[in-house]
Amino acid sequence: MTDNKQVLILEGDGIGPEIVAEARKVLEVVNDRLNLGLQFDEALVGGGAIDATGVPLPAETLEKARNARGILLGAVGGPKWDKLDMAIRPEKGLLGLRSGLELFANLRPAILYPQLAEASSLKPEVVSGLDILIVRELTGGIYFGQPRGIETLDNGERKGFNTYVYTESEIRRIGRVAFEAAQKRNKRLCSVDKANVLEVTVLWREIMEELAKEYPDVELSHMYVDNAAMQLVRAPKQFDVMVTGNMFGDILSDAAAMLTGSIGMLPSASLNESGQGMYEPCHGSAPDIAGQNKANPLATILSAAMMLRYSFAMNDAADLIESAVGDVLDRGLRTADIRTGEADQVVSTSEMGAAVLDALNARLN
Ligand code: IPM
Ligand code: MG
Repeated sequence: MTDNKQVLILEGDGIGPEIVAEARKVLEVVNDRLNLGLQFDEALVGGGAIDATGVPLPAETLEKARNARGILLGAVGGPKWDKLDMAIRPEKGLLGLRSGLELFANLRPAILYPQLAEASSLKPEVVSGLDILIVRELTGGIYFGQPRGIETLDNGERKGFNTYVYTESEIRRIGRVAFEAAQKRNKRLCSVDKANVLEVTVLWREIMEELAKEYPDVELSHMYVDNAAMQLVRAPKQFDVMVTGNMFGDILSDAAAMLTGSIGMLPSASLNESGQGMYEPCHGSAPDIAGQNKANPLATILSAAMMLRYSFAMNDAADLIESAVGDVLDRGLRTADIRTGEADQVVSTSEMGAAVLDALNARLN
């Protein structure tokens, strides 16, 4: 492991500042109480950075991010910046961090907390016990492929285009992350592609097959992405680990999120080869509820726990945070997005954060 104990906090836009504030308090409490030695710094990214500096990812932010071991990000974007040129939209800040730090491995666990079975849009029996890990390739594929753009043809008509591209080495490195994750879980890996239509995913499938020989204890299967979307809402418990490219992973992870009751519960980790990582909730900046103290901070708090686990190998501290989240759900506390019935006590963002702190302190006393 590393001696680097730097944590960079990027609040971002919309509900970002509200949810990150709660996660930061949680981190600070475990840091103090368990003497973890973490050091915190902040920087601007996304729309806030555009307003302050003109660009979504200021050089200073990228520099601080490079020097941090763990980055905790809220969310970026909002209607205020939607009309800007694609090259300087808030989302570019996020994509620039992902590519600038080569955070190619995006882990999105979709776990149903038993307390939230009723909050899922699917029947409790279909989702109870759900525990899927989506491994999404994050720095390649159609998100980054060249050429890309919007051009005007000779006849005056405009043409938009992107390129879906993966090299063997890109496929291999994300494949290894997925096989290794499967080895630590139930040893089943489903690779999702569109190999009936797209050559790039024919190659993807071939490489996954090749890798499978190195991981004989893992059972590899393949599924077309359209079927995978259907199976996720039909019988999601058939999956253990799923591995897929950038865009399919984006889409499937939102679908998987809903199975767990709310996208407000889903954390994520984006890692590079050295274990440096960026941690963010899977949901976006939710401008419609920004500043109203309504958003669910649990995905961000759980992302902070993932940071302790994956970038700092502080597993006890991570377990503690995850248990504290379980405690507040046991108490029946719910932000509006995970409310299921009259019996639930609906709380605000800050009340939910405070409840997690209470639960942490109770466990630490
Ligand atoms: C996500 C988001 C981002 C993505 C957007 C905000 C660029 O949807 O992290 O899933 O598409 O990767
Ligand atoms: Mg997404």
